[in-house]
Amino acid sequence: MIAAQGMALPPAPATTAGPAFDAFGRHIHYLRVSLTDKCNLRCVYCMPEQMVFRPSEELLTDEELFTVLRAASLLGFDKYRLTGGEPTVRPNLVEIVRYIAQLPGTREIAMTTNAIKLAKLAKPLAEAGLHRVNISLDSLDPDKFHRITRWGRLDDVLAGIAAAEEAGLTPIKINCVVVRNFNEEDLIDLAASTLERNWQVRFLEVMPFADVAEFQQAAAVSTAEMMQRLEARFGTLVELDGGRLDGEAKVYRIPGAAGEIGFISPVSAPFCASCNRVRLTADGTLRLCLLKDGELDLKTPLRRGARAEELAGLIGAAIWRKPWGHELSSGVIPMSRIMSEIGG
Ligand code: 5AD
Ligand code: SF4
Repeated sequence: MIAAQGMALPPAPATTAGPAFDAFGRHIHYLRVSLTDKCNLRCVYCMPEQMVFRPSEELLTDEELFTVLRAASLLGFDKYRLTGGEPTVRPNLVEIVRYIAQLPGTREIAMTTNAIKLAKLAKPLAEAGLHRVNISLDSLDPDKFHRITRWGRLDDVLAGIAAAEEAGLTPIKINCVVVRNFNEEDLIDLAASTLERNWQVRFLEVMPFADVAEFQQAAAVSTAEMMQRLEARFGTLVELDGGRLDGEAKVYRIPGAAGEIGFISPVSAPFCASCNRVRLTADGTLRLCLLKDGELDLKTPLRRGARAEELAGLIGAAIWRKPWGHELSSGVIPMSRIMSEIGG
């Protein structure tokens, strides 16, 4: 049962091995792993153009990462998503996927990527055990795409998507963050792509983080406005799955379309009640909530030699204290990291 927000937390259970529950009764079994804070693009809503990244000695090595992953496996984690920054700029990505695939309990491995490097990587990743990709794509207009990403070439992304389809990294999900005065008109073309293609195109409300929060809040477009724009063009969207969330997206279809349209509304309709995840940042902290600053340092214990069993105990105890959810509606904005340092 889910306890009410603000209630005193019951004491943590004494056992350290999984499954991992938090004090609100949520079963946490999905780890989002940020492999790097670096990116080969500079999306305007994500990071400044002169972004300064962490020195590589601050990031977990492959061996350290593998120890954390074994700890997650001991706690019963069965779903993993590789994120960044941009996960494909991490060396040894294919080996990392292969490692996760052989961990006990792994059911699903996905990756969120800008697809710039997927044309070459899709096949080896699929062979190593990657199941699916979510591709960030905010416009199908090459000039606009370049303006939003500052550096990107749309053709590279389209080649990456084609390679992902070819390699069977399906169903393809496209993530489009809707940003005022940049791409609110591009929703139409992106949605229209689902008429022919079996993609799930998901529109995201922009979330505020630290230094970029002011811009992000000024640029926010609500799901309600996105839907109005789409329904004005395509008619009433058909709700799928009886309105249930698919992951964090509410899913619809344009009548007769091959693909689906999803809306991810962290700001206007928080989905904290069904949260099943925690995040590992590239510099080795466990982030309990995307939009709350509470973190557990794993790098210090790792660098003094902690093994997976010990980490599992620390992670299990931290998960018990996972915050209920974000407080964006009361103006509480996460300040310690921006999105690319958490991985989305
Ligand atoms: N709000 C919402 N989504 C964001 N993304 C990056 N920054 C933000 C933000 N502030 C998206 C990216 C990518 C995924 C990792 O999160 O476009 O699809
Ligand atoms: Fe890179 Fe993704 Fe941030 Fe764009 S949104 S700069 S692709 S990490």
